Amino acid sequence: MKKDTLLTHIGRDPARTQGTVNMPVYRTSTVVFPDLESYETRDPDDFKSMRYGIHGTPTTFAFEDAVARMEGGYQAVAVPSGLAAITAALCTFAKNGDHLLVTDSAYAPTRLFCERQLRANGIEVEYYDPLIGAGIGRLIKPNTKAVFCEAPGSLTFEMQDIPAIAAVAHARNIPVLADTTWGTPYFFRSFEHGVDVSIHAATKYIVGHSDVLMGVIVTNKKCWLPVRHTVADFGYCVSPDDCYLALRGFRTIGVRMKQQMANAITVANWLQGRAEVQRVLFPALESDPGHAIWKRDFEGAASLFGVVLQPASHAQLAAFVDALKLFGIGSSWGGYESLITAPHPEKMRSATTWNPGGPTIRLHIGLEDPADLIADLEQALNRLH
Ligand SMILES: Cc1ncc(COP(=O)(O)O)c(C=O)c1O
Repeated sequence: MKKDTLLTHIGRDPARTQGTVNMPVYRTSTVVFPDLESYETRDPDDFKSMRYGIHGTPTTFAFEDAVARMEGGYQAVAVPSGLAAITAALCTFAKNGDHLLVTDSAYAPTRLFCERQLRANGIEVEYYDPLIGAGIGRLIKPNTKAVFCEAPGSLTFEMQDIPAIAAVAHARNIPVLADTTWGTPYFFRSFEHGVDVSIHAATKYIVGHSDVLMGVIVTNKKCWLPVRHTVADFGYCVSPDDCYLALRGFRTIGVRMKQQMANAITVANWLQGRAEVQRVLFPALESDPGHAIWKRDFEGAASLFGVVLQPASHAQLAAFVDALKLFGIGSSWGGYESLITAPHPEKMRSATTWNPGGPTIRLHIGLEDPADLIADLEQALNRLH
C-alpha cells in the first residue's frame, strides 16, 4: 500500500473496532480476567494486550500501531509528552559510568535533562558538532552506550547525516537514538536510515491541532523491550481520550504536511528576497547547506524553519514580532496555525558556536493562505526599521 492509503487503514483492527470506523475510547484502570490461571499466566512482556490500564487499552494500541507501521518500525509506545519520550529513551541506554554522545543542536530541554539529571546520575554526556557525520567515530569511547541525533537541529536546522553516523555507531554495536519530530513518520522513514529508536513529540504534527501533549517512541525489534520496560518502570501512561485525538489527528498528517510544506517554501522563498533577512535556515531550500542530505533522506519537509535577520536591536526585533497579526508568539509547532518565536541558540551550544551577527527567529507556517502570511510579515518587517 502507498503511504496515504496506509494512513487511512492502519489502527483500525475490525476485531477491536466492532464495526465503528474509528477505534472507540476504551477507558479503564483495571482489567478483569476470566479466571485465576489466565491472571497468573499473563505475559509481563506483552504490551499489546489488555493487562492493566497503565500499559494501554485498545485505543492506545491502535494509535501506537498506526505510528509504528507508518514509520516502518517494529513497535511504538505512547508517553505523556515529547520530552518524556526523549528522557525515557535516554534512560534506557545510559546508566551510571556510561558515555553518551548528544548533538549540540538538540532541543534545549533535552540538553537540560542531560545536564541536570543524567550528569547527576554519573553519566558522562558529550556534545558533538551536528555536521560531524562519520567523524563521530573519533568521539566513541569504550563506554559509549548511545548516540543521540536530531535532524534538522532545533532552532538552527543543521541537517545531520544520520546514515553515516549510524554506520559508524552500528559497527561498534552502539544504538542510534533520534528526535525525528521534524521529519515525522510521514516524511522520514527512520529505520531505513539507521535509526534504532525514533522519538517524536506527537504534540506537533502527529496530533496536529495544538490540543494534546504526547510523545511516541518507535523502535526496532532489538530495542523494543528495553525501551518499553523503561516506560513501564517510570509509570508513564497516556489517557485513551488523548490517544483518540492523536490518532484522529494522525489520519490527516499527509494532507496537512504537504500543504504546510508548500506554504512554508513559499514564505521562505519570499523571506530570502528581503533585505532584512541574512539567511533562511530551511533544508527544503536549495540554498541550504543541508539540502542534499534532506533530499536524499526525507520525503518532505516540516513547515518549521529559522530565519537569521540582519543585525537589529532587541527593540527593533520586538517591534517586528509584536506587529505580526497572524503569527502567534508561543512555544510548540506542528499545529494548523502559524507561530513565531525569537530564541537564543547561542545560549545552548558547547561543541559549536552560534554567532550569525543578527537575531534568529523561528517560524512555524500553518494552513493559512501564504499570501496573507507574506502580507503580514511584510507589514511587520517594515516596522523593524
Ligand atoms: C524537536 C522537539 N523535540 C521534542 C519536543 C518536546 O515535545 P513536548 O512539548 O511534547 O514535550 C519539542 C517541543 O517543542 C521539540 O521541538
